[in-house]
Amino acid sequence: MVAIDGYSGCGKSSTAKAVAKMLGYTYIDSGAMYRAATLHFLNNHVSLENPKEVSKYLSNLEISFHPNPDNGKQETYLNGINVEDEIRSMRVSEKVSEVSKIKEVRTELVAQQQRMGKKKAVVMDGRDIGTVVFPDAQLKVFMTADLQIRAERRQRELLEKGEMVDLESIIENLSERDRIDTTRAESPLRKAEDALELDTSFLEFGEQVERIAQWAKTKIGD
Ligand code: C5P
Repeated sequence: MVAIDGYSGCGKSSTAKAVAKMLGYTYIDSGAMYRAATLHFLNNHVSLENPKEVSKYLSNLEISFHPNPDNGKQETYLNGINVEDEIRSMRVSEKVSEVSKIKEVRTELVAQQQRMGKKKAVVMDGRDIGTVVFPDAQLKVFMTADLQIRAERRQRELLEKGEMVDLESIIENLSERDRIDTTRAESPLRKAEDALELDTSFLEFGEQVERIAQWAKTKIGD
């Protein structure tokens, strides 16, 4: 088990995906699960202040991951429908941290993540993987990067998907999500004591993947 946590937009998902491929592990994007839950609540106009309503909609929320038949990339499904692009939109990004701080949501998604991780060798990325979901992970990584650099990378990613967003809005969104994620009462984002820190501000993508794969080899073995 490799647990990768860190701030929003540090490149955790793409790095974790590549590390998993290199090690022959399964990749699980826990952020995609919080995003899918957020989309489900938005689509059903769920009142987030109402725990009964939240619980009701959590009980008919089914999240799964399946490879895209064209390129093999793992994509997120919400109740059987492919929502991979929709969950990355700003509409979802703007609400996801509010949804993620709800206790009932975390209890449900953490349980699902623990079940997924029990079955196989997994690389999972998120905010509380090394601290709460898998506190016994063999390797824990905490990723950071300069806010401006993170925002520029995110802007390029959104543009590739055809969504044009100005840099200021992205900076605002990333810092607001970091603020909510680090200060919430339920499993706030923090570096696990035994996590290795990786600042990706000035690393090439290949370098950060290689660094984590090396750590995995040292800590877990081949
Ligand atoms: O990783 P990503 O940026 O897609 O995550 C979206 C949001 O989901 C985060 O900003 C955070 O609020 C929430 N999240 C979480 N715990 C996780 C993964 C994501 O609270 N393990």
